[in-house]
Parts: sequence; structure tokens; C-alpha cells
Amino acid sequence: MGACWSARIKAESPFHTGVNSKCVSKDGNDVSGSSSRASATSVPLTPRGAGEIIPSSNLKSFSFSELKMATRNFRPDSVLGEGGFGSVFKGWIDENALTAAKPGTGMIIAVKRLNQEGYQGHREWLAEVNYLGQLYHPNLVKLIGYCLEDEHRLLVYEFMPRGSLENHLFRRGSYFQPLSWNLRMKVALGAAKGLAFLHSAETKVIYRDFKTSNILLDSNYNAKLSDFGLAKDGPTGDKSHVSTRVMGTYGYAAPEYLATGHLTAKSDVYSFGVVLLEMLSGRRAVDKNRPSGEHNLVEWAKPYLTNKRKIFRVLDSRLEGQYSMGGAQKAANLALQCLSTEARFRPNMDEVVTTLEQLQDLKDVERNTQNGNHPNRANHSTGGTRSRRRNADEGQNGKAASYPRPSASPLYSRD
Ligand SMILES: Nc1ncnc2c1ncn2[C@@H]1O[C@H](COP(=O)(O)OP(=O)(O)O)[C@@H](O)[C@H]1O
Ligand SMILES: [Mg+2]
Repeated sequence: MGACWSARIKAESPFHTGVNSKCVSKDGNDVSGSSSRASATSVPLTPRGAGEIIPSSNLKSFSFSELKMATRNFRPDSVLGEGGFGSVFKGWIDENALTAAKPGTGMIIAVKRLNQEGYQGHREWLAEVNYLGQLYHPNLVKLIGYCLEDEHRLLVYEFMPRGSLENHLFRRGSYFQPLSWNLRMKVALGAAKGLAFLHSAETKVIYRDFKTSNILLDSNYNAKLSDFGLAKDGPTGDKSHVSTRVMGTYGYAAPEYLATGHLTAKSDVYSFGVVLLEMLSGRRAVDKNRPSGEHNLVEWAKPYLTNKRKIFRVLDSRLEGQYSMGGAQKAANLALQCLSTEARFRPNMDEVVTTLEQLQDLKDVERNTQNGNHPNRANHSTGGTRSRRRNADEGQNGKAASYPRPSASPLYSRD
């Protein structure tokens, strides 16, 4: 766990409370008209990212012994995943009473157990309770409840049967087959809708830790964002940004955020661009196992993305034959726009959603394939050899070791 934790860019702003307190009026004002929030009466004038638990009639407060029972004493063989916060276990509860149920009966849940000591862990736990306790959207994971008892801090979510996008893109093994082009586009759209909802005028939340391990998939590959530990209220009034110390995950954070700590919705758009690029390329944001010059995905891929003929060098060779030339170019161009060094040139998430919606049209692929105008075959004369070679070195050696987070780098660690 220690290694996983260090992958995050650490340290939170001491100004956090002060910044958030400016959001009080927003929280008090905008809940009434929003169907996606808990009822106005359940939302006191408390910043969502700090302070105490905001009462929510939709969350159950579990006892520790109940969750111990539901997860069969946190059995190691029922671990669903691990992150910076702790381990996530599979468990069972009765769907009506929400009490522990016999394994294999009732409703499956995912129980995240904090294994970090100290204030930062508690703070992330609290942020997650307060954001997910109030925000409802088909592309956000559903929080069922929490446990706060002595030193115990746990979160109880709906179970997401297909696990994280990270596993599907990067984990080797027979269980995780490479995701098809169409499924990647579907997942990208779902995740984009989740972010667009967070950024919307009535919600105004910056997610701050957008990455493949925080995108979970249900049985139909609908994407849902989880892990709201670093989420933050966006700027209010005429403020352009929220000031924080830098947190997030190496490889995903926007350059201006790393440089200044100024957080805006466009920081999330940059991280979305990194994830989209990971989906298109099948490469991790940071991969020290690659040849030098290719460790950082964005730095390596950007020059290819700017050239229509060269984007195929970046595309995951496991996707060959599944996409059209136009579709691939459009997706690559979208990633490139999101990765603009200057935040103002990045699209907003509504625009990203619109573009991705156009990419869900399967006919584009079929038409090209029927015409014999297959993009990859055409491409072989330009970048095909390169793309095959890339496949060979895509051995993912060490991938198991770096699972579940991208390898840690002390580069941006601020504490
Ligand atoms: N609801 C869930 N259903 C299934 N797997 C989950 C669920 N929540 C988390 N996981 C697994 O656990 C991993 C870590 O969860 P996450 O919420 O990101 O924790 P952390 O806050 O520690 O990063 C995820 O990447 C995923 O593999
Ligand atoms: Mg996580």
C-alpha cells in the first residue's frame, strides 16, 4: 500500500478550509433547483470537501461489525482492488434491510477500508461521503453508506462487476480481454458525461483525480466515476480558479496546475485527455518500462497526434481493423485538444461529450470496412511497421508490479 500511496501527488492545501468556506453560499443556494442533489433540507451550509459529514437521508451508517460480517472479515481473497486510500473488498448485504447477508445472497457491495493513518485519510474519506452522498448521476458510482467508528473509516458502494478501466486496458490475463474500439468509445463517453455533470453549472465540482483506476464499469460497460477523495468545489463568483497545493496522480495532472496549484475544471479536461490517449494507445500515462523517450505518454504521443498520417503510430495495435480512418482521427484530435498546454484552448466537457457522441456511430466503421477501405491497411504503407513493432515491445513487463496505480514518481511530490 505504501508504494501505491506514493503514486499520488501528495499534500493538501492548508488553505483548503478557507477556500471552501467561500463556497458556502453556493452550497446553500443551488441545491433547491437540482434534481441531482439530495433534497435542500438535507444540505446544511457546510462545504462538501471539509468539515463534517453532511447528513444525507440516502446514506446508511454501518457498524464496523456489520461490514466485517458482510465481507467475511475482509477476506484477502475477496479484494476487488487497491488504491491510495486502502483496499476494496467484496461483500453481501440484504437489499432491503441493508444488513449483512450470507455470501452469494442479497446484493453485492464493494467495501473500501481506509488503511491510512492520520488526517489526510480521514479528509479523503469525508470528501467522498459528502460528495457521493449528495450527487446522483448514472455515470457516478453509487455510495450506499459508510462506517465511522473509533479509528475505522469505510465506504460502501454498489458493486461494479467489470472492475476498473485500468484493469481492462492494462491488466494481462485471460479474464481481461483487450477492450474493443467501440467499447472504448462507449466508456470514454460515459466517463465524459460523469465529468460534464460534475462541471455543470448546478454542480460545479472539480474531480481532480481522473484516471483509469477511478473509472469503474458495470456489466454493460457503462462507466462510472468513483473515488471522490480529492474532489473539490469549483470556483465561485468571478473567481477563475481554486487555490490548492498540488494533488492528483503523476502523469495525469495538468501542467498549469502542477506549476501553480490553480485548479479549474480545465485541469480535469487535461486528465481526460490523458485517459483518452491511454485508451487509444493501450499505453499507460507513465511507464518506466518503455524505452527512454517513451516514459511519458503525452510527451511521446503529442507529435504524432498533430499529424493526420502519423496518428496510427500511437493507436493500440490490438484495435487494428476495428475503427475507421475518420473515427480514429476525430478521437485523436479530441485527445490532442484536451491536452492543449494552454487551458483556454481545451474544450469543456460538454463539447467533449458532443464529439464522443458522434464517435459512437458504428456505421462509420462498417462503411469503411465494406468498401475495402480499411484504415489500418491503408495505414500500413505509412505507419504500419512501426505500429507492429510497438506491439512487440508492449510486453507490459512489470505491469503486474505497477498495478493498480501508475508507477510512482517523486517528481511532483510536494511533501
Ligand atoms: N464499487 C466497486 N466495484 C468494484 N470494484 C471496485 C469498486 N470500487 C473500487 N473498486 C476497485 O478498487 C480499486 C480502488 O478503488 P478506489 O475507489 O479508486 O480507491 P482509492 O481511493 O484507494 O484509490 C479500483 O481501481 C477498482 O479496481
Ligand atoms: Mg482510486
